[in-house]
Parts: sequence; structure tokens; C-alpha cells
Amino acid sequence: MDRYAVFGNPIGHSKSPWIHRQFAAQTGQDLQYEAILAPLAGFADSWQQFVAAGGRGGNVTVPFKEQAFALAQVLSSRAQQAGAVNTLYLDRQGRLCGDNTDGLGLVADLRRLGAELVGAQLLLLGAGGASRGVIGPLLAAGVAKIHIANRTATKAQAIAALFGPEVTASDYNAIPNQSWPLVINATSSGLTGARPELAPSHLQHCVLAYDMMYGKEPTAFLCWCQQQGVAACADGLGMLVAQAAESFYLWCGIRPDIRPVLAALQGQI
Ligand code: ATR
Repeated sequence: MDRYAVFGNPIGHSKSPWIHRQFAAQTGQDLQYEAILAPLAGFADSWQQFVAAGGRGGNVTVPFKEQAFALAQVLSSRAQQAGAVNTLYLDRQGRLCGDNTDGLGLVADLRRLGAELVGAQLLLLGAGGASRGVIGPLLAAGVAKIHIANRTATKAQAIAALFGPEVTASDYNAIPNQSWPLVINATSSGLTGARPELAPSHLQHCVLAYDMMYGKEPTAFLCWCQQQGVAACADGLGMLVAQAAESFYLWCGIRPDIRPVLAALQGQI
């Protein structure tokens, strides 16, 4: 039986083993998927042990995505743009390949929610790894303009500089005064129950507010968007399932249906 695993620290909360077992059952794949707690300074060793024991591929989560990027021998262009790897696998020559499916997961979930991406003007909040990882796939999906807003403008500007003129950046006070139908929170503000200090006027034409975080309760950002009258608000649970589906596709060559898995997960949370 092929072995797969998710590596993180902490990892106890991870929903990936459950999600991948659902995918395996749905597509008739015979695979084993476990959660591995790697030591903070020992991701590479942990991965090598896993491969020596027959591991074929894995997901990588906080805080190891940059270490996985450094470890991979072959990087996809998506991983290079993201500067981080969330999916590892061995190719036929036994080389370690690194990819990043986070952005594809976000794009798939936005489409599931009915968002019009082609030609879209998108406001992206936050300039950490989560933000950087999704920009390339959003542009590839047809998004026309992305403005990155961050407390620390220089971090947003450094990410924008990796892309063309369709990606701009500023702090929250200098967001262009235009209509933003799609507003995506890629900050980690939800971890502390906070929300980015966005002026309500930027939500005036928002048709979908999305938070890449998720939890039992709506995040502070989504609660605030609802109060401001945004028609549709969604958390990142769908992105989690969709990025897992893209990893599964890289390993097994079959793209599972995310809808039944997401529906079951929503019932569990
Ligand atoms: P990740 O890899 O999850 O993106 P990160 O690299 O630590 O995590 O980045 C966290 C992002 O959330 C940053 O953009 C941070 O803003 P700063 O760069 O200005 O620090 C943003 N962030 C965290 N808490 C926030 C808050 N309460 N309000 C607004 N932005 C916040």
C-alpha cells in the first residue's frame, strides 16, 4: 500500500489524513495517509526517514513549507513563485519534486462559490507566505488586477515586485479607491480574533469576501464583512479541501470531487 503523510508542528489538529482517506475511498485508491509531527529543526530528517520506510509523497504545513522548498530537487513554477512547497513526491527517477497547490485550491474554491475570476479586480489582504502563494494561480485563472494591502507596506511591495504591473501594493491607508468585487483575507489576524483595519468603503462593491482561515465560528473579518452588508462570505475550509484534492491529483493522477468531502467536514467542525 502506498504511504503518504502530512508533516507539521503542531500537527494534531490536521484534517488532512481524514480528507485524503475520503479521497482514497471515493476514487478507489489503496493508500495510507498519516500525520507526522516533525521536530522544529528536523523536517529534512523526518522526511528522509519516511521515504526510507516506503513513503511516496506528502503534504507540508506550518512551519515547514520553506524547508520543503529548500529540500526539493525539482520545483514546479508554482512552487517557485510561492517560495514555498506544500506537496512533495518522488518522480520516476526518484527525484524529490516540490509543488504548491494552495493557490489552485483557492481558485477552485472561488469557482465553486460562483466567483467571476476572469477580468476580476481583487483586493488581497496580507503579505506573508499565504498571500504570496496564491497570486500566481489567481492571475493564471484570469484575474486582471490584484492589489496587496498590508500593515507593513514594504512586505506587500516586495511580493508585488515578483509579478508584473497587474499586481500593486500599499498599506491599508493607500488602497486605490475603486470597486473591489473580491476581497480576500490572507492575513493571520484570525488567529488572535482580530481583523485587518480595512476602511468599510472598500467593501462597498464587494460581492464575495473570503477568509483563508477557518474555524468553528466565522472569523472576525467575515463577521465584520457580514455587518457591512457583503452579500457572500466564505471561510477557507473549501480551500483546504481543494488544495488537498490537487495534491492527491499530483500523486494519483485522479482529481477527486471536493463537494461531498467538504460537506462532511462542515458537519464535523
Ligand atoms: P503566513 O505565512 O500565514 O502568511 P506570515 O508570513 O507570518 O504568515 O504573515 C502574516 C500576515 O498577516 C502578515 O501580512 C501580517 O501583517 P504584517 O506583515 O504587517 O505583520 C498579517 N497580520 C497578522 N496579524 C494581523 C492583524 N491583526 N491585522 C492585519 N494584518 C495582520
